Amino acid sequence: MRRLTPAVGLFWILALALLRPGQALAQLPHNLMPVPAEMRWGKGRLNLKTPLKLQLESSADPAVAAAARRSLTRLQGPAEPATGALLQIRYGRMGSPEKFEEERYSLRVTPMGVTIDAPTSLGVLRALATLEQLAVTEKRQRYLPEVDIQDQPRFAWRGLLMDAARHFMPVSVIKRTLDGMAAVKLNVLHWHLTDDQGFRVESKVLPRLHQVGGADGYYTQADVKEVLAYAAARGIRVLPEFDVPSHATSWIAAYPRLASNDSIYGVYRSFRTSNIAIDPTRKTTYTLLDSLFTEMTALFPDPYFHIGGDENDGRQWRRSPRISAFMRERGMVKADGKTVDKHKLTTYFNRRVLAMLQKHGKIMVGWDEILGPDLPKEIVIQSWRGKKWLDDAVKQGHPAILSEGYYLDLNYTAASHYLPDPVPATTTLTPAQQKLVLGGEATMWAEFADSVIVESRIWPRAAVVAERLWSPQASTQDVADMYRRLGGVSTFLETLGLRHLSAPRLLLAQMAGTSNVAPLRTLAEVVEPVKEYKRHFQGMFYTPQTPLNRLVDAAPAESEVARRFGVLADSVLMTGARKPPQSTVSLRQLLQLRAQLLQWQANDQQFQLLLVLNPALREYAPLSTQLAAVSGVLLERINQLQTNQMPSAAWLAAARATLTAAQAPAGQAELAIIPAARRLVGI
Ligand code: ACM
Repeated sequence: MRRLTPAVGLFWILALALLRPGQALAQLPHNLMPVPAEMRWGKGRLNLKTPLKLQLESSADPAVAAAARRSLTRLQGPAEPATGALLQIRYGRMGSPEKFEEERYSLRVTPMGVTIDAPTSLGVLRALATLEQLAVTEKRQRYLPEVDIQDQPRFAWRGLLMDAARHFMPVSVIKRTLDGMAAVKLNVLHWHLTDDQGFRVESKVLPRLHQVGGADGYYTQADVKEVLAYAAARGIRVLPEFDVPSHATSWIAAYPRLASNDSIYGVYRSFRTSNIAIDPTRKTTYTLLDSLFTEMTALFPDPYFHIGGDENDGRQWRRSPRISAFMRERGMVKADGKTVDKHKLTTYFNRRVLAMLQKHGKIMVGWDEILGPDLPKEIVIQSWRGKKWLDDAVKQGHPAILSEGYYLDLNYTAASHYLPDPVPATTTLTPAQQKLVLGGEATMWAEFADSVIVESRIWPRAAVVAERLWSPQASTQDVADMYRRLGGVSTFLETLGLRHLSAPRLLLAQMAGTSNVAPLRTLAEVVEPVKEYKRHFQGMFYTPQTPLNRLVDAAPAESEVARRFGVLADSVLMTGARKPPQSTVSLRQLLQLRAQLLQWQANDQQFQLLLVLNPALREYAPLSTQLAAVSGVLLERINQLQTNQMPSAAWLAAARATLTAAQAPAGQAELAIIPAARRLVGI
C-alpha cells in the first residue's frame, strides 16, 4: 500500500472509529486474499509472543517441512522453541501440481495452537499461505485470530505469464515472483521465453538461438532447473512458451534458413507487431523444431508445452511465391478456390508441431488464433483476444484458459481485472463445456517493464486475478472490500521480499538526485502511465534499449492515492454535502478533501524548483501545473458545497476547460484524479 499522507491516514482512523464504534481491531474484517471458501471466526486468539513449534506428521514431501519453516520464520522470526503451542501438519500424500492434484485443506487456529489437514502436500502449502496472511499485529503484539477454514480452489489452472523475452528477467526476479504467486495461491508460471526481441534459454543443440537471440540475457539450463525447483517447492508448475511461427524473429536471426523469404533479419529492435513468420513449408524448419523441442520438452517436466501461435497475419506466406504455391498444391485455399488461406497452413503447421510434442508425451497449448475446425481437440486454447474465443474453444471440445481481462500490462485498474470471470454466473456453456474451462492467467508482457519495475506492474493487481480464480464466485463481487484487502496484501507481499513498492520509490529517489524527492513523489503518486498500448503512439519510439527510468515508469499502474481521493469525493457527494446542516462525517470529509487539494496545489511550486537541477524531469512539468490548476478548481468547488452555493454557468465552463486541459498526457503519463474531479464538479 502506498504511503498515506498524514491527512488521509487521519481520515481513515476517524472513519473506522465512526463506522465501528467500540469494536476492537481484532473484529475488523480479515485481510485474506484469495478469500477462502468457508470461514468460521471464533473470539479467541493465539498469541505469537511465544513462538509456535512445528509438528509434522508426514514426511512424504520434503517441500512441506521447508515451507512450514519459511512460514514460521515469517510469522515469528527464526527462533523455534522446544516447547509451546503447536503448528500441527497432517497430509495424506505428496501432491504433484503437474497432475492437478487436490489443493484442498482445512486450517484451524485456536488459542491452543494451529492444525492443518489436507489430502495432499499441495493443500498444506496453500494452508500455510493462508496462515501467513492471518497474522495480525496490534499494539506491537502479534497474534493469529481463532478461525476454522475449509478451503479449495474454484479453478485448477491459476497462472501468471512472465515475459522474459522483451526484457530479460533475471532468476532473482523470477524467484521473487514465485514467492508472490505462492502467497496468493497462483499455481502456474507461464514463462514466455522467446519472442521477436529475444530467445532466452540456453540450447545445447542449437546454440546460436541463445547466442544470437539472448545476447542481452538468457537462462542457462542450470538457471532453468533452479527456477523449476524453486517453483516446485512452492507447488507451482512452470509452463514454458516457445512462440512460433510468428513472434520468432530472434530465431530467424540465429538460423536464417527458418525465414519465409530471403531477407536477412537481426533480432527485432522494435515492439511493433512484426508479422515476420518462420517458413512452415520447408523440411528443414521441422528438423530444427524437432531438435529444439526434443531438448526443451526434456528440460521442462510439465506435461503442458506452449507453442504460442499468436499474431501472424500470414502476409509473408501470401507474398512468397514458393509458399503460396505449396498452399495451392495442397488445397489450402478459401471457398473461392483461389485465394490462399493462411489459417489452413497454420493448422497444417500446428498438426506437425503437435505430433512432435506428443512424441514426448506433451499436451500442446496455444493462443486463440490457432483455433480452427481441423485443430485436434486435445490442444489447449488460451484466449486473449476476447472471452468469445474461450467459449468457442470449449464448445469445439478444447480445454481452455482465459487471459482476456487479465492483461496487467494495459495499466487498467484492479477492479477491471477482478470482475471478468472464466465462467460467469450468466454463462450459457453446458456443464460439460464448463468443465473444459481449466482456469485463467494474468499476463505480464514486458515491453514497458524491465527487471527493476516489473514487480510494480504485477503486484498487487495480480492478486485480484488470483482471487477470481481461486475463490467462490458468490463471495468475490464486493469491489470495495477487494480494495480494502488488496492494500493489506500489497504491504504483506513487500514483507516477503518483493519490490513492487520499494523499486518505484528508489527510482524516484534516483531521479531527484540530491534534491528533495517529496514533490516528485507527490506528483508520481497521482499519475499513471497512459492506458493500453498508447505509450507507443505518443511521441516516443520505444525499443528494448530504451531506459525505463522516467517518472512514467515509477508511476503506479493504478494510483492508490487517486483511487482513495475518488472514494472520498464520492462519499462527500453521497452523504448529502449539498444540504446543510452537514453531518460531522461530511464536514470531516470536506476537510480531508481540502487538505489533500491544498497539498497538491502547493506541490507545483516545489516541483518547479526541482526542475532547475533536474532538467530531465521537465517533460512532466505540465502534469504538475495541471494538478495545481485542478486542485484550485476543486477547492472552489468544496467551498460551494460547504456553503450550498450553486456554481454559475461561467464558473462551470471555466472548470470544464481546466479539467479538459488537465487530461492531456505528458511524457506518456496522465493525471489519475480527473474522473473524480469531474464527478465532484458535476460535469
Ligand atoms: C498476445 O498477447 N499476443 C498473446
